Amino acid sequence: MKRRPLLAGNWKMHTTVIEACHLAAEIGKCSADLDDRDVLLAPPFTVISEVAHVLRESRVLIASQNVCWEEQGAFTGEISPTMVKSAGGTAAIIGHSERRQIFHEDNGMINKRVHGALHFGLLPILCIGETLEEREAGKTFSVLEEQVREGLGGVSSDDMRKTVVAYEPVWAIGTGKTASKEQAQEAHAFVRKLLAEMYEKDIAESVRILYGGSVNPDNVDELMAQADIDGALVGGAALKAESFCRIINFT
Ligand code: 13P
Repeated sequence: MKRRPLLAGNWKMHTTVIEACHLAAEIGKCSADLDDRDVLLAPPFTVISEVAHVLRESRVLIASQNVCWEEQGAFTGEISPTMVKSAGGTAAIIGHSERRQIFHEDNGMINKRVHGALHFGLLPILCIGETLEEREAGKTFSVLEEQVREGLGGVSSDDMRKTVVAYEPVWAIGTGKTASKEQAQEAHAFVRKLLAEMYEKDIAESVRILYGGSVNPDNVDELMAQADIDGALVGGAALKAESFCRIINFT
């Protein structure tokens, strides 16, 4: 099955309003002719609506970097799916390793966020990935399995068709140390096989699995050439228009 590539830039906690608007405008320009792939930006909450405005005539999709399961209420510091949508977003990154490691979000909370996104019509991008310690202890696949099974607990087949999974080995994030194409492909194939056990085979075949962790202009082509790698979730290299434009124009 041919899956439509998805190239996503996660801006993390970077960009003021002005910087965000400039960067978004550049990416709007260099993505204008790309009609065989999806390009997505996940700016900080504070600039989602500005970025959406700058890109209103482009095909670029906008995501939040996290999302709450409730529509509104006393949840200081959170953002609701309806707020994301009203600001121009259509997707949400959920369970990023920085949320897991620094802010102690667990699979249970991440699962609630996935359901919240789906319930209110946002496309969830569920992030999973092992730490270096887990990899060295031979626990990579058991960690991934737990994150997938618990993160997607109770998600229906129909909803799974709309869900994206991002494999981001924690040891490769922001370290300049990319997983080799073989390591990445192996993990992606494992996740797809697991999805085939949890859902129908055609759903597993249609779900896009992104790779994240030190993706850059020099390694994107070989990563994207792997059978089960359907896109990239890019951090550092998404903050410079030149490098992100090269990444989204992968060949
Ligand atoms: P880097 O591309 O900076 O390694 O970050 C990856 C990431 O965490 C994207 O969500």
